[in-house]
Amino acid sequence: MNNDFRNMLSRRSFMRTIGAASVAAGSLPAFAAFAQDAAPGRRGGGMGNGGDFGERVVDPLAVVISSNENPLGPSADARAAIAKVGGEGGRYNRQYQTETISTFTEIYGLPKPTGRGEGYVALYPGSGGALDLAVYSSLLSGKDLVVGEPSYEQAPSAGAKMNVKVHRVPLLPSGAYDIDAMLKASDNIACFYVCNPNNPTGTMTPKSEIVRLIKNKPAGSVVIVDEAYHHFSPDESSIDLVKDNDVIVLRTFSKIYGMAGLRAGFMIAKPELQAKVRMVGTAAGTGTGMGAVSISTAAAATASLKDPNLIAARRKINADIRENVLEWMDKNGYSYMKGSQANFFQVDVKRPGPEFSKLMTAEHIHIGRTWKAMPNYCRITVGTQDEMNKFMVAFKKCYEIAPLPASSTAHLDFVDHYSELDFARNV
Ligand SMILES: Cc1ncc(COP(=O)(O)O)c(C=O)c1O
Repeated sequence: MNNDFRNMLSRRSFMRTIGAASVAAGSLPAFAAFAQDAAPGRRGGGMGNGGDFGERVVDPLAVVISSNENPLGPSADARAAIAKVGGEGGRYNRQYQTETISTFTEIYGLPKPTGRGEGYVALYPGSGGALDLAVYSSLLSGKDLVVGEPSYEQAPSAGAKMNVKVHRVPLLPSGAYDIDAMLKASDNIACFYVCNPNNPTGTMTPKSEIVRLIKNKPAGSVVIVDEAYHHFSPDESSIDLVKDNDVIVLRTFSKIYGMAGLRAGFMIAKPELQAKVRMVGTAAGTGTGMGAVSISTAAAATASLKDPNLIAARRKINADIRENVLEWMDKNGYSYMKGSQANFFQVDVKRPGPEFSKLMTAEHIHIGRTWKAMPNYCRITVGTQDEMNKFMVAFKKCYEIAPLPASSTAHLDFVDHYSELDFARNV
């Protein structure tokens, strides 16, 4: 590749191109050499935990258990649906998106739409953007946001963008949200965010506690229940609570359904709240219309919803592998936060998390990030059994390496990525 052309491309835009062009790399030696040069291990900077969405270079040894994705990917029916509708991609078409929404509406016994914009279910390209919009629309009054600590950083980050006070209430020792403390956090609350199961701990807040929050919250305030990982838990969902309350529930296809790259998620709320969210969405230019989800993704989502065995089968696969690893941790005297019902768990690595993550990366095991509230823990996503076997070997090896003296890790900054999408590994 000639230098002038190389200079024309910023490193970043080149890396975006390279994801699509990795096949070409093998047949163009100079191109492949540059790809190597740009590979994540050679980038320098930070603790190796950074990354931008969509910039992947394949490391054949990499085990990616960092972003709570599902290693199984889309189900067989979802893949078949994508192949089937691909040829129709030349036409604008709302039929597939409408079917995804009506399938979900029916499964959960929600009221059917009586007119345009009157439904309880809205389809978004993932639930992350929908979460931002739910937070923005709930904070228009300028009143406060209350969240758990540690929890998924996207909600407090959206609150900060709205320039409101964000109250971070520590979780109970069980990992459940402390509802009493949340209600008392301020006398000026507009919005509560409950992530259930909670990211990064995987722990549950009982539905009875969410009901108690709804009953005792200030009039007009909104409770957002993020159920991105709820399929992994046998507990009851909060979806039915949206009918009579100011509650927004978020669901995603990125986790149990294995469709993180395909981008689909639901916002479930009564039509008045949906309308308020759509107003903010338009203002934020985030494209919340049904056309924001492609027909391929919508068809894959519908096929996933219609599979009666998919959730139970995948929940069991995940729980079996998770418990296998945690038993191994118990036997070896490693400590971790108990109670995860999700596809991830928090492990105590007895040193700053980013320091341990770097050791694991050198072993080709890409683990999750570290939250400021749990600085000596790393979040581990449950991969396949084979991936977790590799994880266990590397974990033991890295754990036995003596931690660096505090003086040499004081400069380490904890990773500040606020969402999985923002964090996606470059491997
Ligand atoms: C708690 C939580 N909510 C929302 C999301 C957003 O996911 P997506 O935008 O892929 O639906 C994530 C992603 O990991 C998450 O962990």
